[in-house]
Amino acid sequence: MGFTVAIDGPAAAGKGTISKAVAAHFGFAHLDTGLLYRATGRRMLDGLEAVEAAEALTAEDLERDGLRSAEAARAASQVAAIPEVRKALLDFQRAFARRYGGAVLDGRDIGTVICPEAEVKLFVTASDPVRAQRRFDELIASGVETTFDEVLADLKDRDRRDSARASAPLKPAEDAHLLDTTDLGIEAAVEAAVTVVKQRL
Ligand code: C5P
Repeated sequence: MGFTVAIDGPAAAGKGTISKAVAAHFGFAHLDTGLLYRATGRRMLDGLEAVEAAEALTAEDLERDGLRSAEAARAASQVAAIPEVRKALLDFQRAFARRYGGAVLDGRDIGTVICPEAEVKLFVTASDPVRAQRRFDELIASGVETTFDEVLADLKDRDRRDSARASAPLKPAEDAHLLDTTDLGIEAAVEAAVTVVKQRL
């Protein structure tokens, strides 16, 4: 039987960092499900129809350049609101969760829709300005020219769309542990997540 850790939350709350560290700590596999939507969005920007793009997604698509850009994030959040796109990506995510002895999946609907039976559910949040500052620092470090206000507006816009959509909206599962990383450094946030997982192992 597999052991699944579901990690959800809004953009730039720390999900990715926490997920990778938890997976490394316990020797679990890790799937960043946002990449599936970003790769689908990218193919839509290339001119493909969104549902067809999601149905035909390949491993190569997940390794393309530019998936981390703000443009790909916006396109991801647009295709993510289409129920048929979500349906096309569902089996792959569930199969991933079952394939390994332990797996960490991070996204928006892992604890609510993809793996409602997950052994551990975490909902990671942080205040808007703190999330925007983290994303702004990342972008500047990678050479992207932008402003704090632009990043903040982008994040808010995406969270609004992700939370308001009818199909698998961003929200904590009823049995999720809430982890607010506003005032936590990376190490403290990872330690808190590892502690929650240990309690269920
Ligand atoms: O996590 P990341 O920022 O890479 O996700 C990009 C977009 O993909 C999100 O804004 C959201 O619209 C969508 N997404 C989703 N469900 C997931 C993961 C991501 O709808 N499980």
